[in-house]
Amino acid sequence: MTTRTRILTGITTTGTPHLGNYAGAIRPAILASQDANADSFYFLADYHALIKCDDPQRIQRSRMEIAATWLAGGLDVNRVTFYRQSDIPEIPELTWLLTCVAAKGLLNRAHAYKASVDKNVEAGEDPDAGISMGLYSYPVLMAADILMFNAHKVPVGRDQIQHVEMARDIGQRFNHLFGNGQEFFTMPEALIEESVATLPGLDGRKMSKSYDNTIPLFTSAKDMKDAISRIVTDSRAPGEAKDPDNSHLFTLYQAFATKAQEEEFRAELLQGLGWGEAKNRLFQLLDSQLAEPRERYHQLMSRPSDMEDLLLIGAKKARAVAAPFLAQLREAVGLRSFVNQAAAPVATKKKAAKAARFVSFREDDGSFRFRLLAADGEQLLLSRNFADGKAAGAVTKQLQSGSALDVRTEALSFSVWLDGAAVADSAEFADSTARDAAVEALRVALTPIED
Ligand code: TRP
Repeated sequence: MTTRTRILTGITTTGTPHLGNYAGAIRPAILASQDANADSFYFLADYHALIKCDDPQRIQRSRMEIAATWLAGGLDVNRVTFYRQSDIPEIPELTWLLTCVAAKGLLNRAHAYKASVDKNVEAGEDPDAGISMGLYSYPVLMAADILMFNAHKVPVGRDQIQHVEMARDIGQRFNHLFGNGQEFFTMPEALIEESVATLPGLDGRKMSKSYDNTIPLFTSAKDMKDAISRIVTDSRAPGEAKDPDNSHLFTLYQAFATKAQEEEFRAELLQGLGWGEAKNRLFQLLDSQLAEPRERYHQLMSRPSDMEDLLLIGAKKARAVAAPFLAQLREAVGLRSFVNQAAAPVATKKKAAKAARFVSFREDDGSFRFRLLAADGEQLLLSRNFADGKAAGAVTKQLQSGSALDVRTEALSFSVWLDGAAVADSAEFADSTARDAAVEALRVALTPIED
């Protein structure tokens, strides 16, 4: 039995990773995957990318760049399962099964969707203007990503916590409806890395493409150097003491430095190191750590078929988990083969009710009677005689209606009464225990099937 923790996270493939993505998400994820206890599933969320982006070139470029970044950063594909979401057809299939149990009201409350609605309302537009079903259903697709592999931990940014909670909600509902006492889905937990500070960008705000303040990661040493030269600093001249704790240049340095390097840099700033020289130090530090992976990155990008092969191997590994699990889930919801139906798990009570049947027949004297047979063919009741088929039919109908059954026991048998008259009788039993068991079996057989 494995006790490894399954860690799963997806990266939406709409952009080019920058230094902030690397320090905040990629590097910690690669480190976490090296833990002997971790069973990591990392994937390119390219179906999610389609929600935000309708530029095929950009989607394709981003998928390659992100794959190359993770591989160049040292992700060991023999240890982890690294794949493209769109290579796993079981994901959209599970998405549909989950869509059918996800409450619309739950999705109405999703932050991303609500923010778009609010924006429309503010602008005086139709609330749903420009909102696709993809955006609306985004959390269900994400729930399928997570639940498909029964992830325990899902490392995400704060903005994604709600989505992980929705995955729990939807998974729980599916378990409840179809689990039959068995829990199909593990409840995932969002993992927020408190220790990993989000990197500040050139202007000191969070490094983000939308602020246009990023430092490029692997494009080239020159691009990195140029960006670093644009880091905003205060106007203290060389020789004047700098305040490391109020300098985002120092924060950037810290994110890549050892404790000793950090202390040395701090001391130099306090002693009046010029900002130009400080930027130089930052560049040297980053370049010493990133030159080698940068080289690997460009190699990978120049040989896309190698990456394709690696990702297809990853997809195969992922599908080896997903396909048999999905088969189980299809079975659970009733999408089953018509052959070998007996093998399908069915609630016993419902089965008995479904299978119990009335068989009518005619006596030599012309009267009508019926037997009630249990699923296994055992006779539960034999009716009295009725003058015509219509009367017998009315009685069977009423017995199936679900109204309270009037059973009267006599010694070692019992009879069933309707409107003050006995309409059917049991056989004779060996003892009262057998008789009472038969009464119980009769009640079960006549319990109406609920939808
Ligand atoms: N929505 C996530 C993001 O934008 C990416 C993502 C898709 C994801 N599926 C996931 C993250 C499953 C964790 C688990 O950051």
